[in-house]
Amino acid sequence: MSIRIAPSLLSADFARLADEIAEIENAGAEMLHLDIMDGSFVPNLTFGPPVVRSIASSSEIALDAHLMVTHPDTLIADLTAAPVSRIAVHIEVCHHLQRTLGNIRSAGIEAGIAINPASALSLIEDALPWADFILVMSVNPGFGGQAFIPETLGKIRRLRKLAGQEALDIAVDGGVCLENVAALAQAGATTLIAGSAVFGQHDRAAAIAELRRAASVGGEK
Ligand code: DX5
Ligand code: ZN
Repeated sequence: MSIRIAPSLLSADFARLADEIAEIENAGAEMLHLDIMDGSFVPNLTFGPPVVRSIASSSEIALDAHLMVTHPDTLIADLTAAPVSRIAVHIEVCHHLQRTLGNIRSAGIEAGIAINPASALSLIEDALPWADFILVMSVNPGFGGQAFIPETLGKIRRLRKLAGQEALDIAVDGGVCLENVAALAQAGATTLIAGSAVFGQHDRAAAIAELRRAASVGGEK
């Protein structure tokens, strides 16, 4: 599977959203990662469906919604209508995961499970048949610019093994940077989500190209 780069809007300049998004779209990023936070599941607030709708109507890039909210089910209809291309819900708050993933898929978009650094993979093992992708958190969610938690590499390796022959997309989110993308790709990650490593850089196109180049070295091993 080839590597996809999904810049996280969290590190962009929110006063210039359209320009910021156009820049990474023109630079060939495959997806735009949208961090939706409610101030309850995580100690931070970002934006919700109205902003996502505006982004969807003013750009062509595929939207990857990461719901860091206590009640993800309440947002699914509005986000699929925006539309976004996929939605990840956190295993830590989803009590009826099979139903939630089914609701996302029945809207015709991809369903993903996000999992925090200290949550066991065994929590999601039985749900893999209903998921199109897994979002492995490599920081505790809530903020951009945090340091990558190195134990994530082993978790991605174990998840890739669990997926077996399935072409499961494994996305990694948090602290992704030039120094760790080769190891992440080698461990089995296929989507690299990067906030500060893209929007925190002056030349976003160069940052995306560099990440892709560095990751391809790991992917070839
Ligand atoms: C953290 C978010 C991430 C964040 C990543 O809660 O889920 O998507 O934007 O930012 P960096 O790449 O700076 O760690
Ligand atoms: Zn995220």
